[in-house]
Amino acid sequence: MRLTKKVMALALASCMAMSLAACGGGGSSTPTTAAPAPTEAATTAAPAGDDATDAETTATEAAGAVEGKDPSEIKVGISIYQFADNFMTLYREELKKYLVEEIGVKEENISIMDGKNDQGEQMNQIRNFITQGYDVMIINLVQASSEPTVTEECNAAGIPVVYINREPETEREQAWVDEGIKATYVGADARQSGTFQGEEIAELENKGDADGDGVVRYIMVQGDPENVDAQYRTEKSIEALTAAGVEVEELVKMRGDWDQTKGQEITANALSQHGAKIDVVFCNNDAMALGALQAIEAAGRTVNKDIYLVGVDALVEAVEHVTNDKMTGTVFNDYFGQAHTAADKAIDFVNGKEVDNVYMVDYVKVTKENAAEILELIK
Ligand code: BGC
Repeated sequence: MRLTKKVMALALASCMAMSLAACGGGGSSTPTTAAPAPTEAATTAAPAGDDATDAETTATEAAGAVEGKDPSEIKVGISIYQFADNFMTLYREELKKYLVEEIGVKEENISIMDGKNDQGEQMNQIRNFITQGYDVMIINLVQASSEPTVTEECNAAGIPVVYINREPETEREQAWVDEGIKATYVGADARQSGTFQGEEIAELENKGDADGDGVVRYIMVQGDPENVDAQYRTEKSIEALTAAGVEVEELVKMRGDWDQTKGQEITANALSQHGAKIDVVFCNNDAMALGALQAIEAAGRTVNKDIYLVGVDALVEAVEHVTNDKMTGTVFNDYFGQAHTAADKAIDFVNGKEVDNVYMVDYVKVTKENAAEILELIK
C-alpha cells in the first residue's frame, strides 16, 4: 500500500517548515519558526512530525493494521460537526478516501453523519453507532464540552473514539490515560497557527503598519469562541506581533463562526466605522478571510498596499489569493496529515495497538514565497 505522490509531497512541504533534525527522524517536531513551546499534551504524545510527515511509516502502519481485524470488516462511524464547513468538507473527503483506498475499509462500512451544528443531533448519531455495533468512532464534536458524555457512553459500550479538530480539555485527555479509556485526540496546535499569522505580518517590511503612523491597528474576525482554535489564533497572532516589537491597537473583535458571509459583514462594518485606520484584518480561518476580502474590495482598499489580510487553513481559493496579492498570507491546516493520523489511530484502536492520547500535526506558513508550491500540492 503506497501513499499518493501528493501526500509524499505534502510531507516534504511540512518538512520545509521544520528543522532538519525533525525531518531526518528522531528529532523534535517543533518547527524552527514556531515561537510557542509544544503543549504538554503534544510532548507527551507521539511526536507529531512522525505522524504528519513520515509518510512511509504511516503507510506501513496502515498496512500493518491488516494483522489484526481484517480492515474490510471494520465499521467506522464518523460524525462531522457540520457539513457546511469548507475546511471540514476537505477533511472528511480525505478521511473517507484514505480509509477506503489506503486502509481497505469497505465504503459501505463507513458512515459519515452531518452533526448540523447541533450537539443533540450528534449525540443521537453517536448512540445509533453504539446500537449498531460500530467498531470505532471518529468524532468532530459540535461542542468540545460534550466530550465527557460521549467518552463515557462509548467507553461503556467498549467502542474507542478518535476525536478530531475540536480539542477536548487537556485534563480530560490526561484522564483517558489515567483511567485507561480508549480515546485520543488528533488535531493541530492552534497556538502555532496563531503565531504563524502574527509572524506573517511582523515579517513584512513595515511590520503591518500600512499607514505608517507607528501603530498597527487591526480587526479580529473570530471563529466560534468556544473552540480553542479560535481562542488561540486570536491570542497568539497578536502575541507574535507584539513580541516582534510592534505596537498594536484592537479596533474590533467579533465572532464570525468560521463563516464567509459573517466574515464579510464584520469586515464591512468595521471598514465603514474605522476606515483607513485599519492596517490589518486577522481572520481565524480562510472562509472568513474570503468574506473579508469581498468587503475590503468593496470599500476600495487594496490588500498588500493599504491593508493586510491573513487567514488559516490554506483553502485553494485563499492560496490563489496569496499568489496574486489579494491576501497577505494564510497557514496550511494539514487535513491530509490529520485525516490520515485519525484513520490510522482508529484502526490501531480496533486492533488493540497502543494509542497515545494526543497527536498534533504541524501547520505550515503560507506566504507569497511558497504559495505557488503549496497550491501545486493541495489542488
Ligand atoms: C478550521 C476552520 C474550521 C474549524 C471547525 C478549524 O481548525 O481552521 O476552518 O471551521 O476548524 O471546527
